[in-house]
Amino acid sequence: ADNYTEEYRPQFHFSPPEKWMNDPNGLVYNDGVYHLFYQYYPEDIVWGPMHWGHAISKDLVYWEHKPIALYPDENGLIFSGSAVVDKNNTSGFAKEGETPLVAIFTYHDMEGEKAGRTDFQTQGIAFSLDNGDTWVKYKDNPVIGNNGIKDFRDPKVFWHEASENWILSLVAGDHAKFYSSKNLKEWKYLSDFGKTQGAHGGVWECPDLFPLKVEGSEEEKWVLIISINPGAPNGGSGTQYFIGEFDGKKFVSNQKEPKWLDYGTDNYAGVTYNNVPNDDRIFIGWMSNWDYARDTPTKKWRSAMTLPRKLSLRNIDEEYLLTNYPLKQVFELPGEVLVESLNVSNLATETINTNGLNQSQISFTTTSKDYRLTFKNNLDETLELVMDAKNNAFLLNRMESGKVNFQAEFGNKKHFMPITHLSQGEYEVKILLDWSSIEIFIDKGQYAMTEQIFSNEAYNQLIIENLDPEFSIKNVKIKRVES
Ligand code: FRU
Repeated sequence: ADNYTEEYRPQFHFSPPEKWMNDPNGLVYNDGVYHLFYQYYPEDIVWGPMHWGHAISKDLVYWEHKPIALYPDENGLIFSGSAVVDKNNTSGFAKEGETPLVAIFTYHDMEGEKAGRTDFQTQGIAFSLDNGDTWVKYKDNPVIGNNGIKDFRDPKVFWHEASENWILSLVAGDHAKFYSSKNLKEWKYLSDFGKTQGAHGGVWECPDLFPLKVEGSEEEKWVLIISINPGAPNGGSGTQYFIGEFDGKKFVSNQKEPKWLDYGTDNYAGVTYNNVPNDDRIFIGWMSNWDYARDTPTKKWRSAMTLPRKLSLRNIDEEYLLTNYPLKQVFELPGEVLVESLNVSNLATETINTNGLNQSQISFTTTSKDYRLTFKNNLDETLELVMDAKNNAFLLNRMESGKVNFQAEFGNKKHFMPITHLSQGEYEVKILLDWSSIEIFIDKGQYAMTEQIFSNEAYNQLIIENLDPEFSIKNVKIKRVES
């Protein structure tokens, strides 16, 4: 877009035109457009009284900004939530022939919180009859009250065909709760999940429950995504998931240990789209971390969303794993090829000097389990990626990557991702850099790592050291993505 050229402004990720953004909200496809609503504070670049910002897209890559969709009202601020297409007008919000979009969100009553009450978060709804352009709040909000649970928020709703109900998941401190409804207005409590399962280093946030086919089979499993803050593997906020069954009333999983959707520090509060035409599960997360979200060195706006990613389930060695991988239109973005096809032999080092790395997509295939990639600039700032699959680890080191000391946690340690199920033979690596972020996908999304970076100058050198005695790194391609 016209003036998206400020320092650190991403060129192929969604970021707000100005001011503060956090979680993606109301992800829904309707009538040819993907909606992206988001937690938004239009007055400052730090968190403040929440609104729902709004943007739309035909392909989840090019976005058009829309006016703010939801403003705070007498019930409170508008926290995170979801949106559905009420095709059968179960809510009765539409007149003959219209299809309502219904948003379900958390009201956060600041006055109640200040007064020391614990029931200050409730759930409300709003509807739109013009595909998201204008919204009307329901007159009898809230639709789910609160009887004293301090953290009670982030409703995600979907239509459950088998039981012919709307199902709502929300979080209540250290667990998820499920509700059902026939009309999106009256909700019946169903069940709880998670008090003694998964990670509990912090409060649970932003749940998302959905079915997913296991790759290469007709088997279907239910997935529950739960964000947690703090308590992520590399510190601060992160996204865990559970695999199990849902019978319309209860989610059951025999999983005790957490599984993580992304091992980077900057993929939080992510949820998936409702109503996608071919049933693809498309995920978008907020590319930041509550440890330092308020301190990152951008001036006009704060933070961006992850790339849109397709979720998929793999059964590997009798274990179900959720993978996430960018949609193909991301890789098809136009650009200039900087490196066409480079091989790095076993035990060899290749140095690539080129501008454009900060806005690039890099890919290669390899059987090597031992290599190091270093991005460097003229200031000798470095961003280091190390595959050490022999020791079951991948490492990202942004400690010397540029501006890091705007907050104590940002650059204080190396970040690790356990590598336990890498394909035996050749596997693929994709790396996407977009000025203030890097996303790494190994083995088609089996392993994902998303992090923010703030180099003081663009990186103009990439050093690839292949430390494997046997296998080469093949077909290194680098494309500079067009602005
Ligand atoms: C997650 C979160 C949600 C909440 C929102 C408030 O990042 O804390 O739980 O609804 O942000 O902005």
